[in-house]
Amino acid sequence: MLNQLESQYSESLAALENVTDSESLHAWEIKYLGKKGSVTLLLRSTGQLPAEERANFGKRANEVKNLLFEAYAAREKLVAEQELALDLEEGALDVTLPGRERPAGGLHPSTQTLRQYAEIWAEMGFQVYRSRDVETDEYNFQLLNFPPHHPARDMQDTFHTTEPNVILRTQTSPGQIRAMHELGENGTQPIRVILPGMVYRYEQITSRSEVQFNQVEGLAIGHNIRMSDLKGTVTEFAKRMYGDNVRLRFRASYFPFTEPGMEIDVECFLCGGEGCRVCKYAGWLEIAGSGMVHPNVLRNGGYDPTIWSGFAFGMGPERATMLKHGIRDIRYFWGNDLRFLEQF
Ligand code: DAH
Repeated sequence: MLNQLESQYSESLAALENVTDSESLHAWEIKYLGKKGSVTLLLRSTGQLPAEERANFGKRANEVKNLLFEAYAAREKLVAEQELALDLEEGALDVTLPGRERPAGGLHPSTQTLRQYAEIWAEMGFQVYRSRDVETDEYNFQLLNFPPHHPARDMQDTFHTTEPNVILRTQTSPGQIRAMHELGENGTQPIRVILPGMVYRYEQITSRSEVQFNQVEGLAIGHNIRMSDLKGTVTEFAKRMYGDNVRLRFRASYFPFTEPGMEIDVECFLCGGEGCRVCKYAGWLEIAGSGMVHPNVLRNGGYDPTIWSGFAFGMGPERATMLKHGIRDIRYFWGNDLRFLEQF
């Protein structure tokens, strides 16, 4: 028995030398020290020995057991260290590797232009006023001096809803009335706002026209506001937007809600007025409709037109965005094609 014990002892120590990972360490533990391990079984059989051998054997067996547990613990520590080192080596961080770029979102080109407009107008004292996309016929047309069968309605083909007289706004101009009602305090307060937002028209979609596009409306109401204020203010905007040397052209025009009304052109900022494909060799690009607020419209907004006057304008920022980036087709704007959007 004692010989058996000694040979188990040296065998197990030798086996432990070959253990290099936690898996084989666990197997070794089961084989020698586990419940049915060979050393455990030897220890347990002490009782079967003749009495005079029992004490001697038992003493040695306990010694062997303790020695093996110590050897096991030392090996366990070594294996853990080795495995950690291996782990670190395999999963090593190479801090010199270039980083992986995260795809970053960007602002839609129209949003970029709208923000630029808002910034310039803000510098000139115009607050942003947000009006609604879904309007009534009353606000979109009637209060703006378009009576029910007025021919000027023809220029703004309208999306109707199933609700009678509820439509998608065809222009941001109804926001003028809403701003006057909300900010005017019954026609007692001056107003200086821009009203950016989407407008909707029931039109054939082509490379130059869409069923939705942005407008930036402007409205100033006060005492003694004149046509010269309108011209000077828009000229200042154009300078900040297109550069100090830009020239403007004002053409008489008609809008039911202005009197007088005019269209505003800038000298083509691509060819400097020489004539090019973008301005269709005219040298000028239309940037806005505008005019003095019609007395009926002032009245509909709660203002007395004998005391108050105002100017208004409506700009189409998509046109400017197309020119700036050389975008040839307006359908790209709402087409949601990432290949297009990622360029901005
Ligand atoms: N609402 C007009 C349109 O959509 C644009 C416009 C013209 C707005 C003259 C104005 C203005 O405020 O004074 O065609």
